[in-house]
Amino acid sequence: MADNQSNALALISSDDNTVSLVQKPTSETRLARISASKMTSQDFPDDFVFGAGTAALQVEGAYAEGGKSLSNWDTFALQKPSKISDGSNPSLAVDEYHRYKEDVLLLKKLGLSAFRFSISWSRVLPGGRLNTGKNMEGIKYYNDLIDFCLCQGIEPYATLLHFEVPQCLEDEYGGFLSEKIVKDFVEFAELCFFEFGDRVKHWGSLNEPFAFATNGYVYGVFPPGHTGDSQTPPSDGTEPYIVAHNLILAHAYAVDTYRRNYQAVQGGKIGMTNVSSWYEPYDDHSDSEDWKAVLRAFDFVVGWFVEPLVTGDYPASMRKYVGDRLPKFTEEQANLVKGSYDFMGFNYYTARYIKNDPNPTTKSQYAADLHYTSSTTNSEGHSIGPVATDAADYVVIVPYGIQKILAFLKKKYGDPLIYVTENGCPDDVEKKSVTEALADDTRLNYIQGHLYYVKKAIDEDKVRVQGYFVWSLLDTFELASGHKIRYGLYHVDFENGLNRYPRKSAIWLMNFFSQKLTTADSKKRARDDHEDVGNNKKNK
Ligand code: FCB
Repeated sequence: MADNQSNALALISSDDNTVSLVQKPTSETRLARISASKMTSQDFPDDFVFGAGTAALQVEGAYAEGGKSLSNWDTFALQKPSKISDGSNPSLAVDEYHRYKEDVLLLKKLGLSAFRFSISWSRVLPGGRLNTGKNMEGIKYYNDLIDFCLCQGIEPYATLLHFEVPQCLEDEYGGFLSEKIVKDFVEFAELCFFEFGDRVKHWGSLNEPFAFATNGYVYGVFPPGHTGDSQTPPSDGTEPYIVAHNLILAHAYAVDTYRRNYQAVQGGKIGMTNVSSWYEPYDDHSDSEDWKAVLRAFDFVVGWFVEPLVTGDYPASMRKYVGDRLPKFTEEQANLVKGSYDFMGFNYYTARYIKNDPNPTTKSQYAADLHYTSSTTNSEGHSIGPVATDAADYVVIVPYGIQKILAFLKKKYGDPLIYVTENGCPDDVEKKSVTEALADDTRLNYIQGHLYYVKKAIDEDKVRVQGYFVWSLLDTFELASGHKIRYGLYHVDFENGLNRYPRKSAIWLMNFFSQKLTTADSKKRARDDHEDVGNNKKNK
């Protein structure tokens, strides 16, 4: 085997055992399910944090209430309903702005001890920056939410940018297409550290900058809805890279501000959350070029944002394939970017096979830059995992992938402290009754299986994983999928007063935390919860 191939292979295979990577563990998956179902929270280290997540735009609603201005997502969904699968928008979402206490209590009821939420920039700074005035009503909302979490024993994990930018900054200078946003973001971040940092001890600067840059500026499914290949020359050859660059700079300057002015006094930690999927070669023969393509896929998805934080520069493969279109950090910026994290957050949902594509013919410049394509089936026709639900067939279920990617991240990026900031399973409740929608066996198995492999990553690979957050606490406005795709531990009945009902996965999680419950107790609890659904219905 050529040297570069074996290097790639050693890095990709967490245990240097290629067989375990390339043989699909059908029986192992079954075994995982059995042991996973017996697992309890006590199988994890004492200081391991279990939580659930949401994001302001996906749950708060009250989009024009309490002094909030419109965000890019509000205008995108309201002005272009055809961009959202069911034509819905975030104006009401699940009304968490008015129901946050109920939702924190729902989280607590499961036994979780941490709540990951985001702070809406346009709610606290409606004009986008400080000199246009801070919105005290918005600040009060987050103060109340944080205080309520803490008095219930729930640790707040706050994200600053979860896909949402004040529309006024988009109008003024094109949002993250302009480097001007860096200063405004830092003002927003500093306001949050100042107002909330006495109680928030875990800050996420950005959520999934990869999704922000590609969905907004390549695929057009996030605001501003740009699809590069419809232009000449295709704007997706430059825009996603510029946006990503400004996102990284915004992160680095915000972290610098936190470290210089707040961290010593407030004693918190800050990190960035990134997308992470597991990749395997489409053709796994030892001389296949797909091994190197797998490494390139990790670079273009994860390394694009993580490598600058570790080394101060973009991955070599990106510099090679994107060339002059990839922005460069100045020396001062590189110094600031390098090391700008106390922990790394990773969201893991799925896996893909990667096929080398030496001569891409696509019209999209971005797609051509990758020099690879991805698929869920390999050269032998083997599928990497079952589809979660036909309506979200882009999520294939590969629980062992979370162990592999965690081990890979440890090896590649210097053994960082890691939180799994999102992991969860989509389903489609269309045409289902509430009772049917609660029977989320696929999600239950998904969470069990992934927790099992997170534990293996800690035990076997010694990855420093510190916490795990389910996405999501409850059904949300699921971005371009509107309310069609659900991820919630709690089902939300959008037809009837946004009532929340625990799904089977939620009840399993309660038992996972509750050692003292006997099987009879837990069955009773499940029965009671399901009866609640009936009573709620009758009471209408
Ligand atoms: C992630 C997002 C999150 C949610 C899940 C399903 O990419 O961070 O907001 O939409 O996907």
